[in-house]
This record gives sequence, C-alpha cells and structure tokens, in this order.
Amino acid sequence: MVPRRIIRQTGLVFLASLCFIFLNVTFIVEWGDDVSWIPYEIRDVSNSSFWIPLANGKTVFYTNFTFMPFMPKYLLNNPNICQNKESLFFLVMVHSAVFHFDQREFLRRTWANKDLLRSHTMRVLFLVGLPRESSIQERIQKENDQHGDIVQGDFIDDYHNLTHKGVMGFKWISENCKNAKYVIKIDDDVFVNIFNLIETVLPVVRKYPRHIFCYTRGNNTVARDGRHAVDMHYFPGVRRLPFPFCAGPFVLIPNAVVTEMYVASLRTPFLWLDDVYLFGILPLVTGNVSLFHLPNCHEDPNNALECFLSKAQCDILAAFAWDGKTMFSLWNYNLRQYNERLWRYV
Ligand SMILES: *[C@@H]1O[C@H](CO)[C@@H](O)[C@H](O)[C@H]1NC(C)=O
Ligand SMILES: *[C@@H]1O[C@H](CO)[C@@H](O)[C@H](O)[C@H]1NC(C)=O
Ligand SMILES: *[C@@H]1O[C@H](CO)[C@@H](O)[C@H](O)[C@H]1NC(C)=O
Ligand SMILES: *[C@@H]1O[C@H](CO)[C@@H](O)[C@H](O)[C@H]1NC(C)=O
Ligand SMILES: *[C@@H]1O[C@H](CO)[C@@H](O)[C@H](O)[C@H]1NC(C)=O
Repeated sequence: MVPRRIIRQTGLVFLASLCFIFLNVTFIVEWGDDVSWIPYEIRDVSNSSFWIPLANGKTVFYTNFTFMPFMPKYLLNNPNICQNKESLFFLVMVHSAVFHFDQREFLRRTWANKDLLRSHTMRVLFLVGLPRESSIQERIQKENDQHGDIVQGDFIDDYHNLTHKGVMGFKWISENCKNAKYVIKIDDDVFVNIFNLIETVLPVVRKYPRHIFCYTRGNNTVARDGRHAVDMHYFPGVRRLPFPFCAGPFVLIPNAVVTEMYVASLRTPFLWLDDVYLFGILPLVTGNVSLFHLPNCHEDPNNALECFLSKAQCDILAAFAWDGKTMFSLWNYNLRQYNERLWRYV
C-alpha cells in the first residue's frame, strides 16, 4: 500500500507543479484519479486559453490546455508520389489502420487505382502509424517496397491517435503535393463512385473553392463518458457542439484549403476526436471555410448494393465496404453502370 501511495503522491506533486507553474490553472484531482491525460508537452505558458471562432461571429471556449504542435517523423515516406504531374487532379488520402493489408489492396485494385483515370489524374497515399508488433512492421515495409504509396508516422497506430494521422497527412500534402487540385480523404473501407463524383459533384465543387464536401454532422452532444468521451477540460460546460463537422469516412477538400488547415493545426490544441478536430475545428480556426453537405456519401453497403441493382443510374457517391467481396461487387456494378461512358474517363 505504502509504495503505491507514494507513487501516486509523486505523480500528483508533478501534476500540481505543471498546473501552477506553467498554466496557473486550478482544478481538483481526487486521490486515485487517472492522470494519464497529460501525454503532451505544454506550449504556451503566458496565454493558455483557446477560443474557437464560430461562423456567426461568436466564439466558444475550447480548452485552456495548449500543446506542442505535432511534428511527426516519417518512418516510411514517398515524397515523389505527386511529382511530374503538373495537372494532378485528385490525391486520395487514405487513413489506414496499419494492419489492414487487405483493405489497401482492395483499394489499389478498384476505384482508387492510381492509373485508373485518364481524364482526371489521380494518386493514392496511405497514412499509417506504428504497429505494436515488429512482424507487422516488416510486412508494411515489404508492402511499401512493392507499391511505394505509404507514409508512416512515428506514433502508435491507435484509434486515439487518428488526429495525428490526419495532421500528418495535411502536413505531407503541404510539403509534397501542392500540385493536386483536390484531396479525397477516405477511410480504408470506403468505396467511392468516382465517375458520379466527377459528373455530379465536381461542377458544384468548382463553384465553391472555400467549401469542404462531406456528410456533415451538427448539434452533436459532447460525450463525457463512453467511446467518444472528451476530457472535462475541453468545452467545459458545453452540452452540444455549437459547430458542424464532417463524418470522416469520405471528405473532399480543395487542396489550397488543406495547406491552410495544416497551418491552423500548428496553433490549435489537440483533440483526439479526429472528425471534430480535422473537419470541425480546423476549418473554423482557418477562417472563411464552410462545410457543404452531401447526403449520399455515407451509405450502408447493403443500401449501396441495392441501389446499383435496382436503379439504372445509382446516385450513391460513397459507401462502406467492410470486406473485399462488397468492395469488388460495388466496383463491378459501378463499371457495368458506366459501361458506355467509361471511355470518357479511363
Ligand atoms: C489570449 O488568447 C486569446 C485567444 O487567442 C486572445 O483573444 C487574447 O487576446 C489573448 N490574451 C493575451 C493576454 O494575450
Ligand atoms: C499515440 O502515439 C504516441 C506516440 O507513439 C503514444 O505515446 C501514445 O500512447 C499513442 N496513444 C495511444 C492512445 O495509443
Ligand atoms: C439540438 O438538439 C436538441 C435535442 O434534440 C434540440 O432540443 C435543439 O433544438 C437542437 N438544436 C439545434 C440548433 O438544432
Ligand atoms: C481551465 O479549465 C478548467 C476546467 O474547465 C477551469 O476550471 C479553469 O478555471 C480554467 N482556467 C483558466 C485559467 O481558464
Ligand atoms: C473568402 O474566400 C473567397 C474565395 O476565395 C473570397 O472571395 C472572399 O473574399 C473571402 N472572404 C473573406 C472574408 O476573406
């Protein structure tokens, strides 16, 4: 009992000094409280409160914890993915779980194949973190030797580190891929009807250079426990987020905005909820960026299959494809549907 108490006490003294010396913040920590939420270095010692500017001119208090900007090291990198392509149109940026070898292969063999489109050049980039097992690391290195389309950051590949993955992607793009016109951010289990995107969404997208296109969410509660729990030091006293954000699986972003959002991330304290941080907070901090709701880009796989089977012209834009069978089925239906018009694109 005694050694344990001492360890806790030491932790608390350390914690207390951080708070009083650097932040000048008071809050109550009970004996035995979990203090593991201080993994990041504290940056701004003089002015530690951060307010988010809302679209209506008001602000909402975000947090009084500020952190070192995130500077990932690339363990695997392919800085040439976008090069020699003056007119690169799409960069498909995939947030991939490091052990999802199959999912990455499904994407390479279907709609996200980098050589598929001739009308609109496309490149694909897979973002991963560090696996916990070294055998997986060996496999991912081999995969990268073969395909040369992976960027790996030096953070553990974990659900709670997805914001880091996203910021790394924005950073990589601002360093290596400024020539792409649009970034399509997806998760590694998403099917996109790229022909429909080109035919029906691009004409709208061209008119709104400061919009992010996605399935938007609004008026979400700030969870304090459960799977999406947010620490009490974020949005204190706020029940519902007073701003919208994108559901992360499919997001289309004009590339000029990506670089601005990366710059904004350098002054915006970290929040682990990646969709809220990347596609809710960063657009607001960047300024003059809005979200554009696309209703048909967040579809259940069965709805999507049904849509292709029952309609001559299925208007679904993006759907979940949790297994290879679904991904290949959707892709085959998609090709069949565009059969006579495919020559315009491929
Ligand atoms: C502290 O930061 C806030 C938000 O960035 C800003 O409005 C305020 O002026 C700053 N205060 C000082 C003393 O720098
Ligand atoms: C996120 O990555 C950092 C750096 O590798 C690691 O210290 C931390 O434990 C990771 N977070 C989670 C929840 O795994
Ligand atoms: C947000 O949701 C709550 C609960 O459903 C509702 O009472 C409130 O009117 C909603 N606010 C907006 C702006 O839609
Ligand atoms: C920081 O946030 C905590 C939690 O909401 C609050 O109790 C404290 O007063 C805040 N401190 C400052 C300096 O804003
Ligand atoms: C927002 O961006 C648009 C398009 O670039 C520009 O025309 C407009 O002046 C900008 N508005 C502000 C307030 O910066």
